[in-house]
Amino acid sequence: MRSVQLAPSILTADFGRLADEVRAAEEGGADILHLDVMDGRFVPNITFGHALVEALRKATSLPFDIHLMVAEPERQVGFYTAVAATVNVHVEATDHINRVLDLIRKGGAEAGVCLNPGTPLAAIEESLPDADQVMVMTINPGWGGQTLMPAQLEKVSRLRSLLDEGGHDARIEIDGGVKVENAATCAAAGADALVCGSSVYNDRASVAENLASLRAALAAGS
Ligand code: DX5
Ligand code: ZN
Repeated sequence: MRSVQLAPSILTADFGRLADEVRAAEEGGADILHLDVMDGRFVPNITFGHALVEALRKATSLPFDIHLMVAEPERQVGFYTAVAATVNVHVEATDHINRVLDLIRKGGAEAGVCLNPGTPLAAIEESLPDADQVMVMTINPGWGGQTLMPAQLEKVSRLRSLLDEGGHDARIEIDGGVKVENAATCAAAGADALVCGSSVYNDRASVAENLASLRAALAAGS
């Protein structure tokens, strides 16, 4: 089985001590840090913007995977390309997805395209040559702690075939409801990276213990 990267999302971390929470992910062996930017328009919730992301840049050397849940992402990507490894935009949020992906790459970051659960793969098929990553939402975006929608894993499998057969090298990231119980299934469906929010930041165990449990589940499933 392919090696799968773990990308903790800080949505359920303690925002009062975020720098420590982020360092805990790095020390616990996270590969990537997933940062969820919500604007209260594309999704009802509001989280944080580029000022906080820039502050966190000083707290860790983990690569940043920015998930822009914002309307008109073309107006915002420029705030993030300098500090992020990957900037992900929703295909539903713009009329000009290929232009936005191009803007991200020109800004020096890798470009990711995200699909809501109700959006068919056909919506991004023409954008695959312009994308370094495709993020499949396995929940409706807006909050952490929701339950993974199993039907979306079938979409991930179809995307895996589409990428492999078309010779595209975009990575697949799964976002939403990833837990110890389903991590290996997500990997088997074809994911290269798993976003893990409430399965990493919770009050049941430490960040390092939770990351170790997720790695063990992946290893056991391989
Ligand atoms: C939700 C975000 C997710 C969220 C995942 O809209 O995109 O990244 O933090 O959290 P869990 O892993 O708890 O579903
Ligand atoms: Zn996310």
